[in-house]
Amino acid sequence: MANIIAIANNKGGVLKTSLSVNLAGLFATHGKKVLIVDGDNQGNVSLSFGENPDTFESTIYDVMIGSAEAKDSIVNLYEGIDVLPANDDLQFLEFDVLTNRNKYKKPFQLLKDSLSSLKGYDVIIVDGPPNLGLMAGNILNFTHEVLIPFQPEKYSMRSLVKMLNFIVDFREKINPSLQVKGVVATLVDRRTALHDQILKECRKYCLLNHITLYDTVIPRSIRGASGVAYENLPVTLIQNQNSLKTAYSQLFEELNLS
Ligand SMILES: Nc1ncnc2c1ncn2[C@@H]1O[C@H](COP(=O)(O)OP(=O)(O)OP(=O)(O)O)[C@@H](O)[C@H]1O
Ligand SMILES: [Mg+2]
Repeated sequence: MANIIAIANNKGGVLKTSLSVNLAGLFATHGKKVLIVDGDNQGNVSLSFGENPDTFESTIYDVMIGSAEAKDSIVNLYEGIDVLPANDDLQFLEFDVLTNRNKYKKPFQLLKDSLSSLKGYDVIIVDGPPNLGLMAGNILNFTHEVLIPFQPEKYSMRSLVKMLNFIVDFREKINPSLQVKGVVATLVDRRTALHDQILKECRKYCLLNHITLYDTVIPRSIRGASGVAYENLPVTLIQNQNSLKTAYSQLFEELNLS
């Protein structure tokens, strides 16, 4: 069975999608077959590969409500990388499920059930949405492990602690096998004293609570900010070496996933 890892944080813009697609790129480079499950209606996984999320005939939404099969909705993005895409249709999931409780008796089970028969992947990476709604619940029930991107900002320790507590709660109530893989600091600017201070605080907290905080950080960079504007590919799949690509490669090694 494939190793499943979700990139999750209820905070927006902390590099969930960037981590998802770049780690997928590194897995594929190492000869692994990867499925990225896009769990966010923004459809940014497809966009990261230059694909318009509105062009797909069926998406994760159709799969979860039972009107399409996962295998018929998955599309290839790159050699070794497939996606189960998402687009704005996913916004209807919550309403559909809540107004049809007779049909959807186990609302957190929808993703897990609809992907259970998938075969042929070494790893499944799930890109989470920036909230803790029904989709996030489905993701945390489906995944084995969660990787949490953490952007060191003024109040971000507070929200990291909340997120970690939420996962503990979720494990107790819904998915007993859920594990926190670790926390990865993102959008870090080493010249900013505040970043260093918050990262120290985070390291202390993680140490006390037996949570891995990776040594590798993903730096804030112009290249990252301009995103896929040039190549229509995640940075780990482009030929030229640059500091961002190096950081993702170092993180990949540290994650010890391959
Ligand atoms: N290393 C980087 N430095 C600066 N900006 C970056 C970097 N990497 C990505 N970005 C930009 O930061 C923004 C947020 O990144 P990303 O979409 O990966 O975050 P996210 O957590 O998935 O966001 P959302 O919560 O909206 O899904 C994007 O516009 C992206 O182009
Ligand atoms: Mg995203």
